[in-house]
This record gives sequence, C-alpha cells and structure tokens, in this order.
Amino acid sequence: MKTAIYPGSFDPITKGHLNIIERAAKIFDVVVVCVMVNSDKKNPLFSLEERLHLINKVVGELPNVRVETFSGLLAEYAKRHEPAVIVKGLRAVSDFESEFQMALINRKINPNLDTFFLTASEQYTYLSSSVVKELARYGADLSGLLPEQIVDDVLEKTRNRG
Ligand code: COA
Repeated sequence: MKTAIYPGSFDPITKGHLNIIERAAKIFDVVVVCVMVNSDKKNPLFSLEERLHLINKVVGELPNVRVETFSGLLAEYAKRHEPAVIVKGLRAVSDFESEFQMALINRKINPNLDTFFLTASEQYTYLSSSVVKELARYGADLSGLLPEQIVDDVLEKTRNRG
C-alpha cells in the first residue's frame, strides 16, 4: 500500500493545500494529512485540534484521505506509516531551497524517508495561509482562496481575535 504523508501547519487549510491533497489522493492509496507544529510560527490562529476539525470538514468526501495531528518530528512520525513518503507542493522556485533542505534533514533522521514534490497549480502559486488571514482581517472575499466549508469559521475566528 502506497501511503503519502502531507504535512503542514495548515493555519488554515487553503484551496492550494486542497489541490495538492486531491492530486496526491489520485496517485497514492492513502494520503494522511498531518497537522504539525512549525516552531517558527508562535501565535497560530487555530489550535491543532481546530485545524484538524477544519481539514476534516474539507476532505470528508475523499475516501482515501485521513487527518491526524502530531507535535514531534516529521521524520519520526513517518515511521508510524512506513513505508510512506512525504508529499509537498512547490509553488515557486523560492520554495525549492527550503523544501530541499527539509527533505534532506528528514532523510538524515529517517533514511527510509523520501519526499515527493508536486508543482502547485498556477492559480494558487501566490496563496499562503498568512495571505488568507491578512485578507480575513480586512473582511475581503475569501471564496477563491479557502474551501467554502470553512470560510465562515475563518472569518469568525479572525473577528474574535480582534
Ligand atoms: N498552496 C497554498 N499554500 C501553500 C502551499 C500550497 N500548495 N504549500 C505551502 N503553502 C503555504 C503554507 O500555507 C504556509 O503558509 P504560512 O507560512 O503563511 O503559514 C507556507 O506556504 C509554508 O508552507 P510549509 O513550508 O509547508 O510550512 P508549514 O508551516 O505549513 O509546515 C512543517 C511546516 C509543519 C511541515 C514543518 O515545520 C515540520 O515538519 N514540523 C515538524 C517538526 C520537524 O520535523 N521539523 C523539521 C526538522 S528540523
């Protein structure tokens, strides 16, 4: 069984992430979306559990996709799903350097672990969770950026954050 792990902080999941998940789900038998901690991001909008809930709302129709959380190292987490590969999306050349470094670090920690890269669809190359949060603060239309099931959750959370 070919399992892919799609890791990220997903604060929140966007249409760009969903595009990678849907495409990976056509290639791999199982895709495990793993909501993780990025230690550079100190003040997330949503808790890990809230992010898991939002992703479940979005991927509920995809039978071979499931969602988990893990707050340790990705390379250690991947051992739970061996043999598995990491899937990441590349939006631009600027993503390549950091993703290449992360792939090498992960394989250093776990020599069985490979990383597959999918090129992001061009309509999402500008997209990031931070862009969505910034636009939400100004009450912008998020319908092209977020899966429709979670637009209200993001707007409400942003309003409550003030
Ligand atoms: N479409 C839209 N947006 C995308 C995207 C896509 N296809 N791919 C990435 N992005 C966005 C993300 O939303 C994120 O936006 P943000 O910075 O505004 O939040 C940004 O691009 C960066 O994405 P990524 O590089 O995947 O970072 P991340 O924070 O989402 O995920 C982890 C990073 C969690 C996978 C990484 O920190 C990790 O592995 N943590 C676990 C601990 C560990 O093992 N560390 C490594 C060893 S030192």
